[in-house]
Amino acid sequence: MGIQISPSMLASDFANLAAEAERVSHADWLHIDVMDNHFVPNLTLGLPVVEALGKATSTPMDCHLMIEDPDRWAPGYVEAGAQSVTFHVEAATAPVRLARELRAKGARAGMGLRPATPIEPYEDLLPELDMLLVMTVEPGFGGQAFLDMCLPKIRRTRQLIAKHGLDLWLQVDGGISPDTVERCADAGADVFVAGSAVYKADDANLMIDDLRAKAQAASPSC
Ligand code: DX5
Ligand code: ZN
Repeated sequence: MGIQISPSMLASDFANLAAEAERVSHADWLHIDVMDNHFVPNLTLGLPVVEALGKATSTPMDCHLMIEDPDRWAPGYVEAGAQSVTFHVEAATAPVRLARELRAKGARAGMGLRPATPIEPYEDLLPELDMLLVMTVEPGFGGQAFLDMCLPKIRRTRQLIAKHGLDLWLQVDGGISPDTVERCADAGADVFVAGSAVYKADDANLMIDDLRAKAQAASPSC
């Protein structure tokens, strides 16, 4: 699939979501951060907003669920129109069952890891997934500084994906900018979430193009 860019709408103007989706027309995905004030100390939006946004845009939605009890809520995001749904393994009761349910409903199944969560215990689970998200900040807020300590985990995850011969996307989220995107691509990431970098740029599409070009140049597989 190559390099993909998924701007985080958390940094957009929530009063004009449809227009903000339009402003990033060069994006491969729209990254929608769902927070419940339990899994993370912040509250954003939920099913009705995702459903409404899905009707207003043709760009596929990549829903990142930072919520407790994703087993209960995640499948609803497929019904609301999300083409990719990522739950956090720290919050899921039955990640295998949940990933299978998301796929059965027709979405890509993603699983997220907080910075302190290792990948190794989940090696056997990788074939059940379409995307693995390595958080590069503590989830909860946009605009935080990139955590370099996550780079070895990105590299190890890419090695596990190769070892099993999987077509599994490796997403990074948090502090991704022109200064950090190359480090992540070099370590093996191929899907890049960027909130502040894209939405605070003078020209959001130009920033998307720049992030994509930098990632492509630094990616070992491109
Ligand atoms: C943080 C969210 C991110 C956030 C990224 O918990 O998951 O998607 O919006 O924002 P930036 O790119 O500003 O770090
Ligand atoms: Zn996110």
